[in-house]
Amino acid sequence: MTSADGRARSRKADIWRWGRHLIFFLALLPFVWMVIGVIQNSLGADPARTLALDSGRWSLRFLLASLAITPCREIFKVSALAPLRRTLGLFSLFYASVHLLVYIVFLLEMRWSEIGSDILERPYITVGFTAFLILAALGATSPKFMVRRLGRRWKFLHRFVYLAVVLAVVHLTWILRTDLSDAVLYGSIAAVLLLYRVAGVIRRHIPR
Ligand code: HEM
Repeated sequence: MTSADGRARSRKADIWRWGRHLIFFLALLPFVWMVIGVIQNSLGADPARTLALDSGRWSLRFLLASLAITPCREIFKVSALAPLRRTLGLFSLFYASVHLLVYIVFLLEMRWSEIGSDILERPYITVGFTAFLILAALGATSPKFMVRRLGRRWKFLHRFVYLAVVLAVVHLTWILRTDLSDAVLYGSIAAVLLLYRVAGVIRRHIPR
Protein backbone atom coordinates (compact mmCIF):
# COMPACT_ATOMS: atom_id res chain seq x y z
CA MET A 1 0.00 0.00 0.00
CA THR A 2 1.43 3.43 -0.95
CA SER A 3 1.39 6.35 1.46
CA ALA A 4 -1.21 8.04 -0.82
CA ASP A 5 -3.50 5.00 -0.37
CA GLY A 6 -2.93 5.17 3.38
CA ARG A 7 -3.84 8.87 3.50
CA ALA A 8 -6.99 8.29 1.40
CA ARG A 9 -8.04 5.49 3.77
CA SER A 10 -7.50 7.51 6.91
CA ARG A 11 -9.41 10.47 5.33
CA LYS A 12 -12.30 8.09 4.60
CA ALA A 13 -12.20 6.75 8.15
CA ASP A 14 -12.26 10.36 9.46
CA ILE A 15 -15.29 11.18 7.31
CA TRP A 16 -17.19 8.11 8.62
CA ARG A 17 -16.22 8.98 12.20
CA TRP A 18 -17.55 12.53 11.78
CA GLY A 19 -20.65 11.16 10.07
CA ARG A 20 -21.33 8.92 13.07
CA HIS A 21 -20.85 11.87 15.49
CA LEU A 22 -23.28 13.90 13.39
CA ILE A 23 -25.89 11.12 13.48
CA PHE A 24 -25.46 10.90 17.26
CA PHE A 25 -26.22 14.62 17.67
CA LEU A 26 -29.11 14.50 15.19
CA ALA A 27 -30.60 11.55 17.09
CA LEU A 28 -30.59 13.63 20.28
CA LEU A 29 -32.53 16.49 18.68
CA PRO A 30 -36.06 15.05 19.24
CA PHE A 31 -35.22 14.77 22.94
CA VAL A 32 -33.93 18.37 22.99
CA TRP A 33 -37.20 19.48 21.33
CA MET A 34 -39.21 17.63 23.97
CA VAL A 35 -37.24 19.31 26.79
CA ILE A 36 -37.64 22.74 25.14
CA GLY A 37 -41.37 22.03 24.71
CA VAL A 38 -41.66 21.26 28.44
CA ILE A 39 -39.66 24.37 29.46
CA GLN A 40 -41.63 26.67 27.14
CA ASN A 41 -44.90 24.92 27.91
CA SER A 42 -45.60 24.61 24.19
CA LEU A 43 -46.70 20.97 23.99
CA GLY A 44 -50.39 21.70 23.50
CA ALA A 45 -53.44 21.05 25.65
CA ASP A 46 -52.22 17.66 26.90
CA PRO A 47 -48.41 17.91 27.23
CA ALA A 48 -48.04 14.50 28.91
CA ARG A 49 -49.82 12.77 26.03
CA THR A 50 -47.76 14.72 23.45
CA LEU A 51 -44.56 13.58 25.19
CA ALA A 52 -45.79 9.96 25.35
CA LEU A 53 -46.72 9.92 21.67
CA ASP A 54 -43.51 11.66 20.51
CA SER A 55 -41.15 9.48 22.57
CA GLY A 56 -43.00 6.30 21.48
CA ARG A 57 -42.83 7.27 17.83
CA TRP A 58 -39.12 8.14 17.98
CA SER A 59 -38.38 4.86 19.71
CA LEU A 60 -40.12 2.97 16.90
CA ARG A 61 -38.41 5.06 14.19
CA PHE A 62 -34.95 4.38 15.63
CA LEU A 63 -35.76 0.70 15.98
CA LEU A 64 -36.70 0.50 12.29
CA ALA A 65 -33.66 2.58 11.32
CA SER A 66 -31.35 0.24 13.23
CA LEU A 67 -32.89 -2.79 11.48
CA ALA A 68 -32.43 -1.08 8.11
CA ILE A 69 -28.65 -0.83 8.59
CA THR A 70 -27.84 -4.45 7.66
CA PRO A 71 -29.85 -4.39 4.38
CA CYS A 72 -28.30 -1.00 3.46
CA ARG A 73 -24.82 -2.29 4.31
CA GLU A 74 -25.30 -5.41 2.17
CA ILE A 75 -27.10 -3.79 -0.77
CA PHE A 76 -24.79 -0.74 -1.06
CA LYS A 77 -21.72 -2.65 0.15
CA VAL A 78 -20.80 -0.09 2.83
CA SER A 79 -19.35 -2.02 5.76
CA ALA A 80 -18.58 1.24 7.62
CA LEU A 81 -22.33 1.48 8.41
CA ALA A 82 -22.15 -1.52 10.78
CA PRO A 83 -21.57 0.39 14.08
CA LEU A 84 -24.66 2.52 13.38
CA ARG A 85 -26.89 -0.49 13.99
CA ARG A 86 -25.94 -0.51 17.67
CA THR A 87 -26.06 3.30 18.01
CA LEU A 88 -29.56 3.53 16.52
CA GLY A 89 -30.74 0.53 18.56
CA LEU A 90 -29.54 2.22 21.75
CA PHE A 91 -31.37 5.41 20.75
CA SER A 92 -34.53 3.32 20.34
CA LEU A 93 -34.01 2.06 23.91
CA PHE A 94 -33.31 5.62 25.08
CA TYR A 95 -36.60 6.98 23.65
CA ALA A 96 -38.49 3.89 24.93
CA SER A 97 -37.10 4.67 28.42
CA VAL A 98 -38.26 8.31 28.10
CA HIS A 99 -41.64 6.93 26.96
CA LEU A 100 -41.88 4.63 30.00
CA LEU A 101 -40.81 7.44 32.33
CA VAL A 102 -43.44 9.81 30.89
CA TYR A 103 -46.06 7.08 31.30
CA ILE A 104 -45.11 6.44 34.96
CA VAL A 105 -44.49 10.04 36.04
CA PHE A 106 -47.06 12.04 34.05
CA LEU A 107 -49.79 9.64 32.89
CA LEU A 108 -49.96 7.42 35.99
CA GLU A 109 -48.69 10.19 38.31
CA MET A 110 -46.55 7.57 40.02
CA ARG A 111 -49.46 5.52 41.32
CA TRP A 112 -47.14 2.51 41.54
CA SER A 113 -49.92 0.11 42.46
CA GLU A 114 -51.60 0.77 39.08
CA ILE A 115 -48.51 -0.04 37.01
CA GLY A 116 -48.75 -3.78 37.66
CA SER A 117 -52.48 -3.93 36.97
CA ASP A 118 -52.06 -1.81 33.80
CA ILE A 119 -49.37 -4.18 32.50
CA LEU A 120 -51.50 -7.23 33.27
CA GLU A 121 -54.93 -5.94 32.28
CA ARG A 122 -54.44 -3.54 29.36
CA PRO A 123 -53.19 -5.58 26.41
CA TYR A 124 -51.58 -2.63 24.56
CA ILE A 125 -49.54 -1.84 27.69
CA THR A 126 -48.60 -5.55 28.07
CA VAL A 127 -47.38 -5.62 24.49
CA GLY A 128 -45.49 -2.29 24.78
CA PHE A 129 -43.90 -3.36 28.04
CA THR A 130 -42.74 -6.67 26.54
CA ALA A 131 -41.18 -4.78 23.63
CA PHE A 132 -39.45 -2.51 26.15
CA LEU A 133 -38.06 -5.50 28.12
CA ILE A 134 -36.62 -6.96 24.91
CA LEU A 135 -35.00 -3.63 23.98
CA ALA A 136 -33.57 -3.35 27.51
CA ALA A 137 -32.12 -6.89 27.32
CA LEU A 138 -30.57 -6.14 23.92
CA GLY A 139 -29.15 -2.83 25.18
CA ALA A 140 -27.66 -4.49 28.27
CA THR A 141 -25.95 -7.15 26.15
CA SER A 142 -24.73 -4.79 23.42
CA PRO A 143 -21.26 -3.87 24.81
CA LYS A 144 -18.33 -5.74 23.20
CA PHE A 145 -17.45 -7.68 26.35
CA MET A 146 -21.02 -9.06 26.46
CA VAL A 147 -20.77 -10.12 22.81
CA ARG A 148 -17.59 -12.04 23.70
CA ARG A 149 -19.04 -13.49 26.90
CA LEU A 150 -22.30 -14.71 25.31
CA GLY A 151 -20.68 -16.12 22.15
CA ARG A 152 -23.26 -17.91 19.95
CA ARG A 153 -26.04 -17.12 22.44
CA TRP A 154 -25.59 -13.40 21.64
CA LYS A 155 -26.75 -13.89 18.05
CA PHE A 156 -29.75 -15.92 19.23
CA LEU A 157 -30.72 -13.28 21.79
CA HIS A 158 -30.34 -10.40 19.35
CA ARG A 159 -32.77 -12.03 16.89
CA PHE A 160 -35.46 -11.00 19.40
CA VAL A 161 -35.16 -7.48 18.01
CA TYR A 162 -37.55 -8.65 15.26
CA LEU A 163 -40.10 -9.70 17.89
CA ALA A 164 -39.66 -6.28 19.55
CA VAL A 165 -40.48 -4.45 16.32
CA VAL A 166 -43.55 -6.63 15.69
CA LEU A 167 -44.77 -5.96 19.26
CA ALA A 168 -44.13 -2.22 18.86
CA VAL A 169 -46.23 -2.14 15.66
CA VAL A 170 -49.02 -4.14 17.38
CA HIS A 171 -48.84 -1.66 20.31
CA LEU A 172 -49.18 1.27 17.90
CA THR A 173 -52.04 -0.39 15.96
CA TRP A 174 -53.91 -1.04 19.21
CA ILE A 175 -53.59 2.62 20.22
CA LEU A 176 -54.56 4.10 16.86
CA ARG A 177 -57.64 1.86 16.47
CA THR A 178 -59.46 3.83 13.74
CA ASP A 179 -57.01 5.86 11.61
CA LEU A 180 -54.57 3.09 10.82
CA SER A 181 -52.54 4.88 8.13
CA ASP A 182 -49.48 5.26 10.40
CA ALA A 183 -49.71 1.68 11.60
CA VAL A 184 -49.80 0.56 7.94
CA LEU A 185 -46.76 2.73 7.13
CA TYR A 186 -44.60 1.53 10.07
CA GLY A 187 -45.94 -2.02 9.73
CA SER A 188 -45.01 -2.15 6.03
CA ILE A 189 -41.46 -0.96 6.72
CA ALA A 190 -41.14 -3.58 9.49
CA ALA A 191 -42.53 -6.28 7.16
CA VAL A 192 -40.02 -5.45 4.39
CA LEU A 193 -37.13 -5.58 6.89
CA LEU A 194 -38.38 -8.89 8.32
CA LEU A 195 -38.79 -10.39 4.85
CA TYR A 196 -35.25 -9.30 3.95
CA ARG A 197 -33.97 -11.08 7.05
CA VAL A 198 -36.00 -14.26 6.34
CA ALA A 199 -34.80 -14.27 2.71
CA GLY A 200 -31.18 -14.01 3.95
CA VAL A 201 -31.65 -17.00 6.29
CA ILE A 202 -33.26 -19.08 3.50
CA ARG A 203 -30.46 -18.15 1.06
CA ARG A 204 -27.82 -19.26 3.56
CA HIS A 205 -29.51 -22.64 4.13
CA ILE A 206 -30.23 -23.58 0.51
CA PRO A 207 -27.27 -25.47 -1.03
CA ARG A 208 -26.09 -23.96 -4.33
C1 HEM B 1 -42.43 0.54 28.30
C2 HEM B 1 -43.63 0.10 28.10
C3 HEM B 1 -44.63 0.94 27.35
C4 HEM B 1 -45.72 1.57 27.85
C5 HEM B 1 -46.18 1.55 29.28
C6 HEM B 1 -46.33 2.32 26.76
C7 HEM B 1 -47.46 3.11 26.88
C8 HEM B 1 -47.93 3.96 25.92
C9 HEM B 1 -48.98 4.92 26.12
C10 HEM B 1 -49.73 5.13 27.43
C11 HEM B 1 -49.14 5.58 24.95
C12 HEM B 1 -50.11 6.73 24.69
C13 HEM B 1 -51.49 6.24 24.38
C14 HEM B 1 -52.44 7.38 24.20
O1 HEM B 1 -52.54 8.23 25.09
O2 HEM B 1 -53.07 7.44 23.14
C15 HEM B 1 -48.21 5.02 24.01
C16 HEM B 1 -48.08 5.43 22.71
C17 HEM B 1 -47.12 4.93 21.84
N1 HEM B 1 -46.18 3.97 22.10
FE1 HEM B 1 -45.91 3.03 23.86
N2 HEM B 1 -45.59 2.12 25.61
C18 HEM B 1 -44.55 1.28 25.93
C19 HEM B 1 -43.56 0.83 25.09
C20 HEM B 1 -43.41 1.24 23.79
C21 HEM B 1 -42.32 0.86 22.93
C22 HEM B 1 -41.15 -0.06 23.33
C23 HEM B 1 -42.54 1.47 21.73
C24 HEM B 1 -41.72 1.46 20.46
C25 HEM B 1 -40.63 0.77 20.25
C26 HEM B 1 -43.76 2.23 21.85
C27 HEM B 1 -44.33 2.97 20.84
C28 HEM B 1 -45.41 3.79 20.97
C29 HEM B 1 -45.91 4.65 19.93
C30 HEM B 1 -45.34 4.74 18.51
C31 HEM B 1 -46.96 5.38 20.47
C32 HEM B 1 -47.69 6.51 19.78
C33 HEM B 1 -49.00 6.17 19.17
C34 HEM B 1 -49.58 7.43 18.51
O3 HEM B 1 -48.83 8.20 17.90
O4 HEM B 1 -50.78 7.61 18.64
N3 HEM B 1 -44.27 2.08 23.11
N4 HEM B 1 -47.48 4.03 24.61
